[in-house]
Amino acid sequence: MTTTPSPAPARPHVVAHVAVTPEGVTTGFEPDVGLFYELAGTWQEDVTLAGSGTLLAQEATLASAPPGPGPAADGPLLAVVDGGGRISRWEELRAAGHWSDVLALHSACTPPRPASRQVRELVTGSERVDLRAVLETLAGREGAGVVRVDSGGSLIGALLAADLLDEVSLLVHPCLAADRDGQRWYGNARGTGRALELVTNETLRDGIAWLRHRVRR
Ligand SMILES: NC(=O)c1ccc[n+]([C@@H]2O[C@H](COP(=O)([O-])OP(=O)(O)OC[C@H]3O[C@@H](n4cnc5c(N)ncnc54)[C@H](OP(=O)(O)O)[C@@H]3O)[C@@H](O)[C@H]2O)c1
Repeated sequence: MTTTPSPAPARPHVVAHVAVTPEGVTTGFEPDVGLFYELAGTWQEDVTLAGSGTLLAQEATLASAPPGPGPAADGPLLAVVDGGGRISRWEELRAAGHWSDVLALHSACTPPRPASRQVRELVTGSERVDLRAVLETLAGREGAGVVRVDSGGSLIGALLAADLLDEVSLLVHPCLAADRDGQRWYGNARGTGRALELVTNETLRDGIAWLRHRVRR
């Protein structure tokens, strides 16, 4: 008897939009934040997938900022990979006015969370958050068609290593990074040798180049 292989579970289109220097470094320079978020609107993502390193870098600002306007009903869901259980400002993130809600992504090894915590969570993976399972759940349970990754190189590198990245959008700033040991946008991901399809190659204001590529499969 022959068996028909079951189709691969659906997962969303995953795009990483990153501001970089020509060396591919994501920190140690002043990105044009306004332009970055203007272009981030290109994808109208259903889910913003953020790394814990990125959000931890913003927690001090969130703590001292005045209360946000509250959830944006039409905004994307903010899903945060937080295997270490290090994020604490969930209420402030939900109220920031950018997202409709927040979702904490944990693994079986994530330390216990306070019982009083008011945040939805999704637990996948035994030691680390299982990024493939997360994306399949976001498609199946949240109806996500597009996920935009907002992170430094670690999360993007992990997605690349698992062959889960469909598009790379680099906003290349005309300066060299001050930090010679700065993190590259692809983190420590091993090479995949995949071909890319050029979508956009534009020069924008102040000599910033926007390079957008789709990963060929
Ligand atoms: N230039 C830009 O456009 C841009 C954009 C965003 C952020 N940044 C900067 O980048 C810096 C933060 O970047 P970062 O690279 O340190 O951190 P990050 O990518 O924001 O966070 C690392 C994330 O990757 C996850 N991760 C790594 N390997 C994994 C694996 N194998 N499986 C599952 N999850 C995995 C970690 O999960 P755990 O929590 O479980 O460890 C964590 O959530 C900040 O300084 C920020 O300002 C720059």
